[in-house]
Amino acid sequence: MGKIILTGIKPTGDLHIGNYFGAILPSLKMIEKSKDDDIFMFFLADYHALNTLKDKNEFKNNCYELAAAWLACGLAKSSKVIFYRQSDIDELFKLNWILCNVTPKGLMNRAHAYKAQVELNKTNGQDIDHNVNMGLYNYPVLMAADILGMNTNFVPVGIDQKQHVEIAREIAKSFNSTYGECFNLPEAFIKKEVATIIGLDGRKMSKSYNNVIPLFKDEKTLKKHIDRIVTDSSSVDEPKSTDTTIFKIYELFATSVEKQEMIRAFEKGIGWGEVKKKTNEVANRELAPIREKYNYYINNHKLIDEILQTGAEKAKKIARQVLDRVETLIGKK
Ligand code: TRP
Repeated sequence: MGKIILTGIKPTGDLHIGNYFGAILPSLKMIEKSKDDDIFMFFLADYHALNTLKDKNEFKNNCYELAAAWLACGLAKSSKVIFYRQSDIDELFKLNWILCNVTPKGLMNRAHAYKAQVELNKTNGQDIDHNVNMGLYNYPVLMAADILGMNTNFVPVGIDQKQHVEIAREIAKSFNSTYGECFNLPEAFIKKEVATIIGLDGRKMSKSYNNVIPLFKDEKTLKKHIDRIVTDSSSVDEPKSTDTTIFKIYELFATSVEKQEMIRAFEKGIGWGEVKKKTNEVANRELAPIREKYNYYINNHKLIDEILQTGAEKAKKIARQVLDRVETLIGKK
């Protein structure tokens, strides 16, 4: 029997090449390598994003941008994929409430994101509940509903989300022991740490450091960003180190032959301007086709809505079956 593999992506609005190499490409590869009867459920965790996104336009645009990005990269090409928006599946929010009632408060007290906020408040001498709303506190329960509501077997996530999947397992066990066997116990599948993608200034690429290379901006903007990569002041004929930001970025896009050639050029000496030009060429070669597709989707919200709606219909069927089982066990039916 095929497995259900599920993961949520939060529309936080940072579409840069760090996400592309760190999240999008590895997921597509995983789908490609999976068994024929596996099912991949990918969803926009839009209601999870409500916790930090309070501007309605930003919320809406981030959702469309994220959907357009994954579609442009080819997510929906495989018939194994069900791509939907969390908020379209009403069943999950009913399940969320039912699960709240078998979730010990102490389990939530231990969740990393909540604990981090409490620690920050303590450090700043603030009330421990400062900036803690119930969305943050209950975040892991909604995530458990996302997972358990789809009969999930595996949840591919980064290491930062591992605890959330373990909490979902605890909640599943708690429900099963209260009402009888109902839920699979989901397992986290920790994605191998893709080497950190470094940003223009050599630190980890992150929106908060303002050092990102945007994924879908036009060719000129891409070039401008690549020109901003920090280099040293060595002259053209001095040998260059490959332990440099520019080389690490070049390497992401280059073929292995191109990479070897660049290593030789670095040994002999090459101007940084020339390296940047070549980096721009290989980056543009990779990004131009997906940029075109992205622009097509992002200018066609209706198409995105239709695709997500088709996904939602399939996902709802699964969630409905799970909720029927749950509602029978709790005595509603
Ligand atoms: N919390 C996840 C994140 O911030 C997103 C998410 C929501 C998720 N629900 C999920 C991931 C269910 C995996 C399974 O990245």
